[in-house]
Amino acid sequence: DPTKKVDRFLHAMRLQDEQLVDISSRFLAEMKKGLSAESLAAAAVKMLPTHVRSTPDGSEKGQFVALDLGGSKFKVLRVKVREDEGTNKGGVEMEEKTYPIPKELHEGRAVELFDHVSESLKDFLHEKNMSPEKKHPLAFTFSFPCEHPGLDQGLLLSWCKNYKVRGLQGKDVVQFLRQAIDRTGDMDIDVLAMVNDTVATMMTCGFDDQFCEVGLIIGTGTNACYMEELRHIDLVQGDEGRMCVNTEWGAFGDDGALDDFITDFDRDVDAASLNPGKQTFEKMVSGLYLGELVRLVVLKMAKLGLLFDGHVSDALRTKGKITTGDVAAMEEYRNGLKNTKEILTHLHLTPSPDDCVAVQHVSTIVSFRSSNLVAAGLVAVLTRIRQNRNLRGLRITVGVDGTVYKTHPQYPKRLHKVVRRLLPDCQVRFVLSESGSSKGAALVAAVAQRLISQRR
Ligand code: BG6
Ligand code: GLC
Repeated sequence: DPTKKVDRFLHAMRLQDEQLVDISSRFLAEMKKGLSAESLAAAAVKMLPTHVRSTPDGSEKGQFVALDLGGSKFKVLRVKVREDEGTNKGGVEMEEKTYPIPKELHEGRAVELFDHVSESLKDFLHEKNMSPEKKHPLAFTFSFPCEHPGLDQGLLLSWCKNYKVRGLQGKDVVQFLRQAIDRTGDMDIDVLAMVNDTVATMMTCGFDDQFCEVGLIIGTGTNACYMEELRHIDLVQGDEGRMCVNTEWGAFGDDGALDDFITDFDRDVDAASLNPGKQTFEKMVSGLYLGELVRLVVLKMAKLGLLFDGHVSDALRTKGKITTGDVAAMEEYRNGLKNTKEILTHLHLTPSPDDCVAVQHVSTIVSFRSSNLVAAGLVAVLTRIRQNRNLRGLRITVGVDGTVYKTHPQYPKRLHKVVRRLLPDCQVRFVLSESGSSKGAALVAAVAQRLISQRR
């Protein structure tokens, strides 16, 4: 059985429940550290307050333009939110356009990236016949870690994933966007709110489900947010009610907290990334890295003579040649093995039937580890909420988005199963954010707009 040698070779990636419980309690400790004012600067897991104080209640309304930057696609959207009328649930209508971001802009200057963003916005307004004379309120989903002095301010802590742009770290991203919009000219835009994609996802799903108090992303990167008690958030004044906290769990392990779970393959992925030493957990979990992990394992096994009779191709030695899409294809229910053979042949390898079974199994172990790690993180978040509310059981909904969760054929099922096994007393519902994060960002902007008009 060719899967046996893979099991032995990847022993360190096959996490047992006790190990997941251990990881979960380590993450719970990191969350506490990040929330307390004394340890914030030193904390790997930042636990950033978002200024979002409630999930949607159906009274949100208005028409917004939205920007969505930082995931696998950059989009501009128009979002119309209609108020809940009597028995009718409120409705949301959306139109969107994807604007490709040239690769150079991912590693160029911030001014150039944001000029591209605002020119795309202008193009969109023009295409949708939205008058340049009228003021358009805007909601911005920005999928990077930011410290928020307010809803319409966000200081970029660091770039990650496939972005490394000069001249924005430590600066207010909203201010930067406004300046770019001014430079582009011929638009009247009011940037009302900037939110993380996890927060936007929680709000999107919260529109239809009042129990949705967690947002989860498993895409290019990974992250989660949840509703925390305000009295526990040292950085924000006030003790009443709750506020959404963006955990930035991708950085879990950056201070060594996961060292005993890290493999040589993880170290190699990290070393070849745009941000070595950062986003340790993210690099074990998310879409930007899963394919690369599989490639490195397969390469190593081939070099050791455990695959392809010891034959290695140049393609197999090349970074990025196995993608996370390939991983998903290799694990398809019916065509998985056939896909595996095609993918390997495409890499100029000549796999035997046993090689295909073995490589498919590598893929399964790598993607299973990812869903197991996410489960461990999520169990910590849910345990925290349950402790906050002094409950034994908990009924809660997790809003989820991201290409890994949406396109890997087995990922959601595996994740749900582990979470439910580790938290038997909780009733956890997972809801896929069908309409993406901009709906949720617009709902946040709608509340902000109402508060502003009440103050006037
Ligand atoms: C999308 C959001 O739906 O999900 C993005 O609109 C977010 O902002 C993304 O970053 C996460 O998925 P991915 O796979 O595109 O990184
Ligand atoms: C990265 C970012 C985080 C984002 C996540 C998912 O981890 O730091 O802000 O939510 O990717 O897109």
